[in-house]
Amino acid sequence: MILVTGATGVSGSLVIREFARQHAPVRALVRNSAKARAFEEFPTVEVVEGNMLEPSTLGVALEGVDRVLMISSAAERMLETQCTFIDAARKAGVRHIVKLSGKESSIGFNAQHFRTGRQHEGIEQYLERSGLAWTHLRPCQFMQFYFPGAPAMNLTANTLAFPMENARLSPVDIEDIAKMVFALLHSEGHEGKSYEITGPEALTMAEIAERISEMTDRTVTYVNILLEEYRRAVLAAGASPERANGFVELWSERRRCGESRVDLGTHEIFGVHPTTFAEFARRNAAAFRGESMPS
Ligand SMILES: NC(=O)c1ccc[n+]([C@@H]2O[C@H](COP(=O)([O-])OP(=O)(O)OC[C@H]3O[C@@H](n4cnc5c(N)ncnc54)[C@H](OP(=O)(O)O)[C@@H]3O)[C@@H](O)[C@H]2O)c1
Repeated sequence: MILVTGATGVSGSLVIREFARQHAPVRALVRNSAKARAFEEFPTVEVVEGNMLEPSTLGVALEGVDRVLMISSAAERMLETQCTFIDAARKAGVRHIVKLSGKESSIGFNAQHFRTGRQHEGIEQYLERSGLAWTHLRPCQFMQFYFPGAPAMNLTANTLAFPMENARLSPVDIEDIAKMVFALLHSEGHEGKSYEITGPEALTMAEIAERISEMTDRTVTYVNILLEEYRRAVLAAGASPERANGFVELWSERRRCGESRVDLGTHEIFGVHPTTFAEFARRNAAAFRGESMPS
């Protein structure tokens, strides 16, 4: 059995949908099954409740599991959450954990300058020492980050406001990642490997705004803001001061680096077409226009 944790989240839910599309069995770990109602229509998806921070709640979820895709929120306790889960998985007899990690596409980016980067590195090292087989998937920024609702993404005012000046990023569509995860978890030979994943283009924020404009029939403009203005927007969107600090560290480092690399090696290994931002925006035009929820 394959277990996917973080199954109600942005990336986990798209991975579960890929398994359902392929009519393949999968177990989805959720904290609250009320948040997983959308999975009820998928006959091959089994939903099990459990908390990664509380090993005593994971017995049913881990029973008979051979491989896990491990995801949890990029929150203050991510390191503790995933390391606790790794220990529980080892004790339950899991053989292989695939960690959804992260790696920035910015050239010269230092993960130690960014809270989530430091946490991902710590978890990767803990998993490598755990005695379990491991694989790290290291995607850069998700295209889904630009959906309406992201802090500083104000489609009502038709603005995309970030502290990025002309720096570039190479965002990747999570649907590409979901296809890679599916292929990886249904083949052998990936143990002890790290796969970096970017999208197919290095784009400035102004170019991303242009692509969203083309799909939404309105002019979305990139507005360059100060890091402190971005911090205030993230706090106003409900983030804790620690989370807001983490975002400020991340955008500050991205801006410092300026340039971004494109690396489609992992798409090629798993035979996945690299979705461009224009294709992503076209597929999600209704969500960008505010006519439907992002799926
Ligand atoms: N955003 C990006 O651009 C980006 C890029 C590269 C990598 N990443 C990494 O990708 C990972 C996932 O991101 P995401 O945006 O998909 O996250 P997300 O939407 O916040 O989803 C996180 C999921 O983890 C679950 N979770 C959190 N704590 C848990 C616990 N103690 N026990 C069980 N489940 C728990 C959440 O469950 P609930 O529904 O119960 O809260 C939710 O389903 C993060 O580690 C992030 O750093 C993100």
